[in-house]
Amino acid sequence: MLIKCTIDGVGQLLNVSADKPLSKILQEKIEDFPTNSACHGAMCGNCAVLLNGECVLSCLVPAYRLNNAVILTIEGFRRTRPCHDIERAYTETGIRPCEQCYASKTLMIEGVLNRMDINNTRNNVLDKALIAREMGMNSCRCLEMRQIETVIRVALKNRRNRIAKK
Ligand code: FES
Repeated sequence: MLIKCTIDGVGQLLNVSADKPLSKILQEKIEDFPTNSACHGAMCGNCAVLLNGECVLSCLVPAYRLNNAVILTIEGFRRTRPCHDIERAYTETGIRPCEQCYASKTLMIEGVLNRMDINNTRNNVLDKALIAREMGMNSCRCLEMRQIETVIRVALKNRRNRIAKK
């Protein structure tokens, strides 16, 4: 089937079988897409991407769901301002994922931020169930949940400040 989508800001017209996993498509299209994403849904988390702003495991997403989708791998996400909100939070807190899971945890944190009400500055309560669910897609235990919550809290502050300055 023919699929029209955007990968890391570049429009693509793909001719692929309907059930081909997005992870396989990305391995063919993106030079740096992790080749250690091979557990196929067992939650290594290495294949995480943003699909229309939601963090997903690309090995579980069949091609037929991709028409008109906006897909960001860590390579594309790194070039965006939202990524800088998270990067600054890593620097400000001194808390950073290990090299192995940096890409997937960063995209999962963005997935959490995208589900939060950024505009409601009175609501600073973190949804711990949401965070546990999103971050649970990655099996690396380099950070404790309270450290991840700290990063999310600071990244949220950075994002709100940036948007308020616009
Ligand atoms: S390849 Fe491991 S979760 Fe997708």
